[in-house]
Amino acid sequence: MASFIVFEGLDGSGKSTQARGLLRRLRRRAYAALLTHEPGGTPLGESLRRWLKRSPDLSPMAELALFIAARTQLVKEVVQPALESGVTVVADRYAASTVAYQGHGRELDLRLVYQLNQAATGGLAPTLTVLLDLPAEVALARKGGTGADTFEAAPLEFHRRVREAYLSQAAQDPARWLVLDASQARLELSRQIWGRVRPLL
Ligand code: TYD
Repeated sequence: MASFIVFEGLDGSGKSTQARGLLRRLRRRAYAALLTHEPGGTPLGESLRRWLKRSPDLSPMAELALFIAARTQLVKEVVQPALESGVTVVADRYAASTVAYQGHGRELDLRLVYQLNQAATGGLAPTLTVLLDLPAEVALARKGGTGADTFEAAPLEFHRRVREAYLSQAAQDPARWLVLDASQARLELSRQIWGRVRPLL
């Protein structure tokens, strides 16, 4: 199986930029690699993404179910086949997002969130998760404050819970998480990420 590298963090943390940067670096060095993102990455996932981003009145349980549906399809159609054929997968968000946003942000039953993640992924865990950590205030300010987007419109407290949930997931499994201060320069971050990813390839 090839490596599966996931980027996590609040919106505004710069994770999508770093995920793209890692993909470019891998390809320059002739590794077979693909980049995907959640929610999305499949036709079903992309339609669910539109619903999720523009439906502020969705019940938290419905929201959870849609993220899980998108992930189930992504793992089956994209992630699992790629890893099995030796392609390194870089993902912008994965199961830890659901623990952070739906479990802690929306305060849904954590056991249920873990069970659904397990069902969606079939137990497929990232080789490494890179957490681009920022205080919630800073991340929101980078995105231009609370906006029309479902999650950007959530109160500051929600984003604080999400950040703490990420940090505690990382603390529970330090061998599989890399936590970086996302306020560092972009190039410095990519240097640290590459230093940790390279030995895994
Ligand atoms: P993202 O694509 O990172 O946002 P954008 O492209 O707008 O920068 O993710 C969309 C939102 O979905 C983000 O605010 C986090 C949220 N999300 C969850 O709440 N749970 C999940 O399981 C996932 C994957 C994302």
